Amino acid sequence: MQIHLFQDKQALDIAVAQEFVRLLQQHPHCILGLATGGTPVGMYARLSAACGRGDISFAQCQTFNLDEYVGLSRTHPASYYQYMSQNLFSKVDLPLSQCHLPDGQALDSIRECQAYEQSIAHAGGIDLQLLGLGHNGHIGFNEPGTPIDSLTHVVQLSPTTRYANARFFKNAADVPTQAITMGIRSILNAKRIICMVSGADKAEIVRRVLRGTITPDVPATLLRNHPKAALFIDRQAASLL
Ligand code: F6R
Repeated sequence: MQIHLFQDKQALDIAVAQEFVRLLQQHPHCILGLATGGTPVGMYARLSAACGRGDISFAQCQTFNLDEYVGLSRTHPASYYQYMSQNLFSKVDLPLSQCHLPDGQALDSIRECQAYEQSIAHAGGIDLQLLGLGHNGHIGFNEPGTPIDSLTHVVQLSPTTRYANARFFKNAADVPTQAITMGIRSILNAKRIICMVSGADKAEIVRRVLRGTITPDVPATLLRNHPKAALFIDRQAASLL
């Protein structure tokens, strides 16, 4: 796995945004895999600004998000749909019909997972997948132990993950217990992957991801088997390497 090291979070945001800018300029019809969470917020701001300046257009691309909470409506302030809307969709020229997130309110979530997987395949697969990294090594909501061949599926969220995401909810108890996530295989199917990691609190897991055994027990280690996966990290996240 390639490693790109940056002085600070700002430099990291610029570099990752630049990768998306380049792809959108060269292939306006590209298929983007997107992530939520704290890490990509600044990067999305830069992409929105680049679109505002007319450097890039999202008009012809399609986006597929990694995950969504089960039970939250698209209008719920902590839903990933709202996050994407606030951080990117409402700020760029991407038609909403081309933005895809799993439907957390689908009556039949198993069917929703299959349909989501099919729409990714139908679009031609993901050209560039953005990932963040969980403290336990999760990617998407694929918690430790998720099978390598997993496709989009419903997951039970671990207490650690619910705790880490409690900051986006009024009460910690409001964090849903389940989510729909692209699986490990769905992620590894992407033609290219950028995993973006920032901050000293991620240093230990970054060390395990890069130096530890490749195992589903630390899902992000599986990225090391992908020919075009790269870790973009700042100095703090790299401090234990
Ligand atoms: C988000 C996602 C998660 C986060 C990860 C890191 O769509 O699937 O895997 O990328 O939990 O979150 P932050 O960036 O908040 O540290």
